[in-house]
Amino acid sequence: NKLVIIDTDCGIDDAQAIMMALAAPNLEVLAVTCVFGNATVENVCQNILRVLSVCDRQGIPVFQGSAGPLVGVNWSPFSDHFGGDGLGDVLEDKDPQWKEKIQQEHAVNAMIRLASKYENQVSLVALGPLTNLALAVRLDPRFPQKLGELFIMGGNMEGKGNVTVCAEFNFAMDPESAYVVLEEFICPTYLTTWEYCCRNALTWEFFEELVNQDFPAARFMKAVTSKCWAYSKEAMKNKRDVYFGPGFVSYDSYAMAACVDGSTVLESIECPVRVELQGSMSRGMLVLDRTKSLKKSHAVRVMSKCNVKKFGRLLMESLKQPWRK
Ligand code: BDR
Ligand code: CA
Repeated sequence: NKLVIIDTDCGIDDAQAIMMALAAPNLEVLAVTCVFGNATVENVCQNILRVLSVCDRQGIPVFQGSAGPLVGVNWSPFSDHFGGDGLGDVLEDKDPQWKEKIQQEHAVNAMIRLASKYENQVSLVALGPLTNLALAVRLDPRFPQKLGELFIMGGNMEGKGNVTVCAEFNFAMDPESAYVVLEEFICPTYLTTWEYCCRNALTWEFFEELVNQDFPAARFMKAVTSKCWAYSKEAMKNKRDVYFGPGFVSYDSYAMAACVDGSTVLESIECPVRVELQGSMSRGMLVLDRTKSLKKSHAVRVMSKCNVKKFGRLLMESLKQPWRK
């Protein structure tokens, strides 16, 4: 089995991606580490506890991580696309004891400890801003070497952003961390960009079938997505909002699917990359160095074509939970 750490800013698509990991018979989730992003890190922790509880997998340890980016005081806290709490603002199940269910150890220390214990065996799937990962390499410079592989949802391949003209949300929230990770993580790295997700969007008919399955996980996703995807459909029709993709796009699930089953990725480009830190319009944008001008020794795999049928099947399976301990 693949040993997996999921680093997440648990919004709606993170929840879906995590359910995919929990349902995958070939994955063992060692830990979920939380980071700010779609909501505050406190909200993210609570969202993870909810997801694990719906899937009856409360035994998986949850760690609290970074509350904000490495640099910047005026960063906008989080997007409201998934609601203020990251899960559509529809749940009324506040758990006053949630803090007691979070591990004492900081998320970054936990990542380092697990990667050291299972050297070269851990697949890290990063679904939010990359702050925890950047801190990990600063605390332990050998951290990237100790990882088996890294999957990232973030960045863009054609200069198209969803929160700024050129930058995708996860990279825009903490460009310095994205820069550090893409410069210093020399482990095999797979990038799921914004455009990859949009190009491989699923239909709204598929979405209806997905969330109307008769399982607790499907009912949960139906509830938390109700406002968000209704808004998304409308927004796309009127081209009012660039954040949502063309159709049903569960962004983080594409990265998770690549980890669960590499054959969901039909084509990818092997290319050195760098994150722009200075541009007045392009800060946080991912640049693909197709001409190898940067003379970097490390290249990443930027996914370009998805097997949408296989991906859809993984999504469908992921909501048939709980079904496994
Ligand atoms: C990414 O931004 C977040 O809001 C989503 O959860 C996803 O990780 C998409 O740009
Ligand atoms: Ca996310």
